[in-house]
Amino acid sequence: MPRLAAGNWKMHGLSDDLAEARALAATWPDPPVDVVLCPPATLIARMSVVLAGSGMRIGGQDCHAATSGAHTGDISAAMLADAGASHVILGHSERRADHGETSAQVADKVRAAWDTGLTTIVCIGETEAERNAGATLEVVAGQLEHSLPRNATASNTVVAYEPVWAIGTGRTPSPDEIAEVHAFLRGQLPDPGIRLLYGGSVKPANADSIFALPEVDGALVGGASLKAADFGGIIAALGRA
Ligand code: PGA
Repeated sequence: MPRLAAGNWKMHGLSDDLAEARALAATWPDPPVDVVLCPPATLIARMSVVLAGSGMRIGGQDCHAATSGAHTGDISAAMLADAGASHVILGHSERRADHGETSAQVADKVRAAWDTGLTTIVCIGETEAERNAGATLEVVAGQLEHSLPRNATASNTVVAYEPVWAIGTGRTPSPDEIAEVHAFLRGQLPDPGIRLLYGGSVKPANADSIFALPEVDGALVGGASLKAADFGGIIAALGRA
């Protein structure tokens, strides 16, 4: 499968910021890799108009496990799809930390997303304390096993390895450390063809060294996805890899 650059805008983005998505699509009329932008839910419908015909896809950042119902403030997978999304990020460490999401809850959301035809981007990653304790592989294996139903395939799922301590900090694991975790995870995937992204402080400046690793199929990018020039630099690096 083509490599994938996914941008996670998190809780950033008002109408004016759609100009960045417009600029990205104008600079990359035929991107060399798959591109998915995940804006806040309020921008999905408008971004789908901006990116129409660009080949770039749109994702949500979370969904509820139920198809509809009395869940004030939540969004269903079908609502994301209806607004123009084809993907959804699930189990991001900020959801796990801010909302106490467990891997079992993530798995329920994954099934709901699949039922609606969305491709899931399932996030896992260790905290700094867990890495220091030598528990990284054990932690990510457990998260993967419990967050990802065993019938996941390369066509409905992407997995993002995102060390919690690397997110938004400017720090990243060494290439050897990323390679170790990715090689390990590859062997744990229910389908070895599932794309394995790295996420956590990916920037144009470090993208080449990360994408040179054979088990890295792309990136989930936070801060650097907000500006077309930065995200474009990451798309270019992935295209060269
Ligand atoms: P960052 O975020 O690129 O800003 O570190 C990555 C993520 O949380 O997906």
